Parts: sequence; C-alpha cells; structure tokens
Amino acid sequence: MNPDNPLPQLTEEAEPTAGIAATPVWLFLLLLVLTYWGMYYLDKHGGGFQTLVYEPYSDLKYVQSLQPKSEEGELLARGKRNFELYCQICHQASGLGTPGQFPPLAGSEWVNAPGPNRIIHIVLNGLQEPIEVHGQQFNAAMVPWKDIMLKDEDVAAVLTYIRQNKDWGNNASAVKPEQVKPIREKLKDRSAPMTPTELKTIPDSE
Ligand code: HEC
Repeated sequence: MNPDNPLPQLTEEAEPTAGIAATPVWLFLLLLVLTYWGMYYLDKHGGGFQTLVYEPYSDLKYVQSLQPKSEEGELLARGKRNFELYCQICHQASGLGTPGQFPPLAGSEWVNAPGPNRIIHIVLNGLQEPIEVHGQQFNAAMVPWKDIMLKDEDVAAVLTYIRQNKDWGNNASAVKPEQVKPIREKLKDRSAPMTPTELKTIPDSE
C-alpha cells in the first residue's frame, strides 16, 4: 500500500458491452395474463363502451330493461304538448285562465270531478252559456276540438295532463282513450256546443 495514497488502488473495470440475452419466458407469460385480464375487465365493466351504462350494469339492453315502462309518463308528455298547442292560449300556462273571460282549470271542480265524462264532452264539442267555476262566473264560448284532435289518445292525453297537473293543485284520475271513444261516437252528429245545465244531467263517471 502506498503511504501517500491511503485509498485502495482501483482496478479499471472493463467497459460494459451490449450483448444478446434471451427475454425471460415469464415476462411473456405475465404480459399475456395482464392483457387477458385487462380485456376481461373491460368486457365486464366497460358497459360495451356505452356512455349510459355504468357499473354494476353490463350492457345497454339490461339498463333499458330496468327503465320504468311508464305509459302514464308518455301520456302526460303528449298531454302537455296538446295543452300548449290548443288550450294554453285561453286557459294560460298557469291553468288560471283570465278572470271574467276564460275559466281556470287549476282547482276547477269540473276538471277535478271523480270521472272525466263531462270534460270529455266539453273538449269534444265545446261549451257555451253561463258556467260557475271555482266560485267565479263565466259566460263565453269555447270552441269544439273533435275535428282537430281526431285521435281519442290526444283528448285523453290533454285531459290527463290537466287533471293530474300537480303544479295547479289538481289531482284526479287519468283519462283513457277508451273513455273518450263512446262519447265521441255519441256526439258525432251533433254540432251544437255543450251547455253547463245539460252537462250536469250527465253522470261525471259512468
Ligand atoms: C278560445 C279560448 C279557449 C280555448 C282555446 C280553450 N278553451 Fe276551454 N273554455 C273556454 C271558455 C270561454 C270556457 C267557458 C265557456 C262558458 O262560459 O260556458 C271554457 C271552459 C272549459 C272547461 C270547463 C270549465 C273549467 O274551467 O273547468 C274545461 C275543462 C276546458 N275549457 C278545457 C279546455 C281544454 C282542455 C282546452 C284545449 C283542448 C281548452 N279548454 C281550450 C275557452 C277556451
């Protein structure tokens, strides 16, 4: 050992050189297993790349099969459209009508009757002569809709919408097309509008 240089003499290492060594087989196997697992995971949890499908559901068909099949929801949506098209101009979006001119549908005893018979007559053939609604008197005329709403479904839908409109405080039973059909049949040769006096002789539910 050199007393002037206490560090042990380093021997010069050989430069590393590139060589060829076989890739270990386990690495391939690991890759294979990982790829397989990745695809399996995606298949199980990816919802078939559908944006509407989340865990724990696996595909769109399954998710759709779990949606509520609400016939009434559809009827209400159609009723709202019809109301906006045909009725809102007079009875207003609020259902409150215009005092002295157009009677309210919100809180109306006619609309909220146990059955829809009388209001089916009103919508099909129109209405005239004095009427009392929610304690107020009206005396104007409402046009008939039977030649415009040719489908019983449309009449049923709009009446369901006004009877079940919670924003207006209404809460009566839904109206079915089968309830409209016989009344349309009965009124088919009549052109005169209904009158409140006459309507009162008709049972509001049959
Ligand atoms: C041109 C204006 C007008 C339109 C549009 C109209 N109504 Fe009327 N409606 C009236 C008038 C006016 C009366 C009261 C008639 C009377 O004085 O005898 C009335 C009465 C009623 C009544 C009975 C009274 C009440 O307020 O509960 C109902 C129910 C009714 N309408 C529903 C409808 C529905 C549903 C539609 C849409 C399909 C509609 N109306 C479209 C003017 C209209």
